[in-house]
Amino acid sequence: MRTLTVSLADRSYSIHIGAGLVERAGDLITPVLKRPRVFVVTDETVGDLYLDILLKSLDLADIRHDHAVLPAGEGTKSFAQLESLLDTLLAARVERSTTLVALGGGVIGDLTGFAAAILLRGVDFVQIPTTLLSQVDSSVGGKTGINTRRGKNLVGAFHQPRIVLADIGVLDTLPRRELLAGYAEVVKYGVIDDPAFFGWLETHGLNLLDGDAEARTHAISTACEAKARVVAEDERESGRRALLNLGHTFGHAFEAETGYGATLLHGEAVAMGMAVALDLSAAIGVCPPEDAARLRAHLTAVGLVVDPRKLPGAPDWDLDRLLEHMGHDKKLLDGRVTYVLAKGIGQAYLCRDTDPDRVRSVLAAAIQ
Ligand code: NAD
Ligand code: GLY
Repeated sequence: MRTLTVSLADRSYSIHIGAGLVERAGDLITPVLKRPRVFVVTDETVGDLYLDILLKSLDLADIRHDHAVLPAGEGTKSFAQLESLLDTLLAARVERSTTLVALGGGVIGDLTGFAAAILLRGVDFVQIPTTLLSQVDSSVGGKTGINTRRGKNLVGAFHQPRIVLADIGVLDTLPRRELLAGYAEVVKYGVIDDPAFFGWLETHGLNLLDGDAEARTHAISTACEAKARVVAEDERESGRRALLNLGHTFGHAFEAETGYGATLLHGEAVAMGMAVALDLSAAIGVCPPEDAARLRAHLTAVGLVVDPRKLPGAPDWDLDRLLEHMGHDKKLLDGRVTYVLAKGIGQAYLCRDTDPDRVRSVLAAAIQ
């Protein structure tokens, strides 16, 4: 097991990465519990696979527990599911000293974290992320929230977990498509500021996807180290943390156009969005076109679709509607979109004055 720390003074916490952590969860979380009582939130798919294992480990550690099993899928990050979960938690008479445990992917983590942030004006929560995406990104850093009809993640709170247990063993049951979607977020860290890691992924990415435990541990640890560093520096995203949104402005627009459903998963949208962001960087002359091509080549080589026109089941992409979705981005400053661009692989930066005509023409070239 590898252990990293997110350094946030009295809210610092550990990220444990390794195999068999769900079986050991009771013992691992005991030191951070105010009282030996938890409420586990999971989804139907993950619940069928791992809830009994988790509950057994809580029993062995003498931790009292209740649980709720929610529908799987992005639709669960909604006001309706939040309200229903809060009602279930209150009906179970959770107290301020009760800790919520999110067992699942980013959907369960974001929803449970937000419920923890607002329940009884704030209770503790623990992340047990079960997708690659949630292990390398969403479980770390304290962004929690839900989607609204006006866009993704527009309602939420910063609320840090007390501990994160990233069990690489559970990735064995994750469908390949979900694994690949999470892989896009892994690649993101290389593109932001770690060209050596990008090079390592070009060589070992497929091993990781094919189940090599050492490659998985290395990639997840590297990603979590990078995220922990950024979060410690800029928890509330007043600066550098926004780099983690590389690919997300375009990606959220593609997701919104496909209805946040099975046509395009979040990580898949990030892969497409990163490719467009580097094309834009090349178009404005800051990024060598070879680097934009290298990113596309790697994402394609592992099996991700980077060309929106080649997405199975893709809608007829509408340029104006995509641009309209981008205008609902959370990262607006004085009504303008902040883009994450790159001067090359490993050199991402924030750009607040991108020429809208250039954005339009690059996006048009990507979809038409
Ligand atoms: P998800 O939670 O929907 O999980 C994907 C699917 O895999 C689900 O159907 C789930 O039931 C299933 N699953 C999960 N673990 C499994 C396992 N071990 N074996 C088999 N099936 C399993 O999706 P996700 O990709 O983990 O997360 C996406 C969400 O994360 C989005 O809502 C996105 O906005 C959010 N996100 C948040 C942050 C953040 O900082 N908070 C960062 C990135 C993404
Ligand atoms: N996933 C972006 C962030 O956590 O800031």
